[in-house]
Amino acid sequence: MYSLVHVKRQGSILGIEIDNPPVNVFSQQVRFELREAFIAAAADSAVEAVVLFCVGKTFVAGADISEFDLDSIPQPDPNDVFEAIEAMHCPVIAALHGSVLGGGLELALACHYRVALASTRLGLPEVTLGVIPGAGGTQRLPRLAGVEAALDIMTNGAPVSAQRAYELGIVDIVVEDELFAAAFDLARAVIESAKPLRVVSTMPLDKRQIPEGFFDRCRNSLPKVDRGGRAAREIVDCVETGLTLPFGAALERERTAFNLCKNSSESVALRHLFFAEREAARIPGLGSTKVERRIETVGVIGAGTMGSGIAMNFANAGIPVMLVETNDQALKRGLSLVRKSYEASAAKGRITLEQVEKRMALIDGSLAYADIADRDLVIEAAFENMEVKQTICRQLGEICKAGTIIATNTSSLDVNVLASASGRPTDFVGMHFFSPANVMKLLEVVRGDKTSSQVITSVMTLAKKIGKVSVISGVCYGFIGNRMLEGYLREAEFLLLEGANPLQIDRAIEGMGMAMGPCRMIDMAGVDVAAKVVLERQRAGGLPDDPAYRSVVRELFARGRFGQKTSIGYYRYDGRTAIDDPELGALCAELAERHGIVRRSAISDEEIVERCMLPLINEGARILDEGIAYRAGDVDVVWVNGYGFPAYKGGPMHMADVMGTHTILSRLSHFATSRGNEYGYWTASDWLTRRARATNVAS
Ligand code: 3HC
Repeated sequence: MYSLVHVKRQGSILGIEIDNPPVNVFSQQVRFELREAFIAAAADSAVEAVVLFCVGKTFVAGADISEFDLDSIPQPDPNDVFEAIEAMHCPVIAALHGSVLGGGLELALACHYRVALASTRLGLPEVTLGVIPGAGGTQRLPRLAGVEAALDIMTNGAPVSAQRAYELGIVDIVVEDELFAAAFDLARAVIESAKPLRVVSTMPLDKRQIPEGFFDRCRNSLPKVDRGGRAAREIVDCVETGLTLPFGAALERERTAFNLCKNSSESVALRHLFFAEREAARIPGLGSTKVERRIETVGVIGAGTMGSGIAMNFANAGIPVMLVETNDQALKRGLSLVRKSYEASAAKGRITLEQVEKRMALIDGSLAYADIADRDLVIEAAFENMEVKQTICRQLGEICKAGTIIATNTSSLDVNVLASASGRPTDFVGMHFFSPANVMKLLEVVRGDKTSSQVITSVMTLAKKIGKVSVISGVCYGFIGNRMLEGYLREAEFLLLEGANPLQIDRAIEGMGMAMGPCRMIDMAGVDVAAKVVLERQRAGGLPDDPAYRSVVRELFARGRFGQKTSIGYYRYDGRTAIDDPELGALCAELAERHGIVRRSAISDEEIVERCMLPLINEGARILDEGIAYRAGDVDVVWVNGYGFPAYKGGPMHMADVMGTHTILSRLSHFATSRGNEYGYWTASDWLTRRARATNVAS
């Protein structure tokens, strides 16, 4: 009795249907039932063709990633299933819709023909999980699409449209609708034509098309193995060796490489993030009985860089949005910012000019709050000032229709205070977009003390619709991401005072994989912006009583060294090129003397990395202790998607897991002794201490 695979006969054509919701993953049970179905079909000489399709929103979206934690892929092996399909006595046609990814595309490639709905996306995204296509993808795709195009698809992992797949020869027919009718028609046409079956594994690879030195150039363009490039490099090797090996041997070579990648620390980290990103969208304990508010129209207060960027997210997803400003000039400027940004995307070929106009038509402007009174969601994105934002929230509470979700885009202010100003705290939520808001994937959804679960889930659903990776945060200074930044930047500055220079710090931090070192990052964001945050925190009494704390950024600010915008900050700039500035060294030496900090002639890169990473982990742990983040994975998702933490290291909390709690505690204690711990900088969080105790008990 089959449960996930069903067989339906239409005359001499057999329909084989996979029904494994939600995304029809190619799990062990599906493989087993599918192979049985093909064995039975092969034994039935009355079957003249098979159409393979899936129920629900997509064709098979990939192998079951959770099986990768096992030592080996459980039987039956996908390659055995594919062998059974290719060996069929009659044509097998795959009818594709939704996301045909990874093992799903490999399954389709094992069929003799492919018909796809125009909306289908096809790809081999394994590299984004730190693995390679492990079921023939590296060998079959180049046979259909050519080596260059196939390598491009596999090494960048992004899916292609059905139309592009057609142009590349990956699919044979693209239809706007009536997928099954088209697949059955093709089946009948193939039966009638009596042409030999198109078995992809037996097709020749066209080596003549490959330019001299192509594979080396390809490898040179990829990240090194220790920078997350292992899987992409293995893909290149598999394709290159596949040119000379018999198909069966090439499959074996591919499987060895797949297993190597699957067991790598990068893949474990990337798989952790895959599941963490999906888990992050859930409120623990809420179950699946969630009732949501419809969000079909949006208003944004403030048409500055942030407000316009936020508005673009909605227009991109087809949601009408109204930008509200206080004066005509600011409004026009905001709308023209949006247009310029869309036109730049069109110039790069990312969207068409028609799309530019379509999106612009979804963005309206107004100078009157009354015009957004009937919107389902209103986001204030005004200047980061408590009084200004309180006034806006009060006004929104007065004019918005009942049921409007009111959101603030604050990055640092108390969401509970703003919620209470609105007079509708249950309808109030924080939506912390990151700049540039139309580009950055991360959205911190901040739940105030009184925000209703319905509001949170509605906003999380909307976030997914606009393509954001969203994480729920409680209310605290800086929420999850910016709060963790504090200890990280504090240590970067102490290292400067102790004698390291910005180049060395950035090089060490970038060497461990961060997209940008702390000094370069502040110079880019603006020393003035960073210093004002520190000064404001100090004014509010939120900083340690340490006169040396963030003294470098304050001094740079006082001297007008605002970073890239003034061509001088932590570095001196020649255009965008950062140059070491000896004056900065002198300034740090002066500050060190003022604060009684001993300078050292050599500070190792290892120390720099540890000094910056340990506070990050420790603060992440405090955030968990306080219930600000629900799960360690949430913290990782924030830092990977918003702060350039290397995905192949899985985020700070995953890194902590890899390092081991005992090691972290002992390193914190080491720095507490060697650097002093007057202000509690190196005091371990309760979360870490508890975990260490729990591992003691367990072992
Ligand atoms: N394995 C296991 N679970 C998977 C999965 C997979 N390949 N793909 C999705 N899921 C699960 C998700 O974890 C989620 O579970 P949850 O509801 O318990 O959180 C559920 O399916 C729905 O997933 P999404 O929330 O992501 O659904 P969307 O509709 O937003 O997106 C999708 C659908 C585009 C298919 C997206 O799920 C996706 O990108 N999946 C991964 C695709 C992929 O990477 N495939 C390649 C796998 S590796 C492989 O095939 C190796 C092969 O070469 C041997």
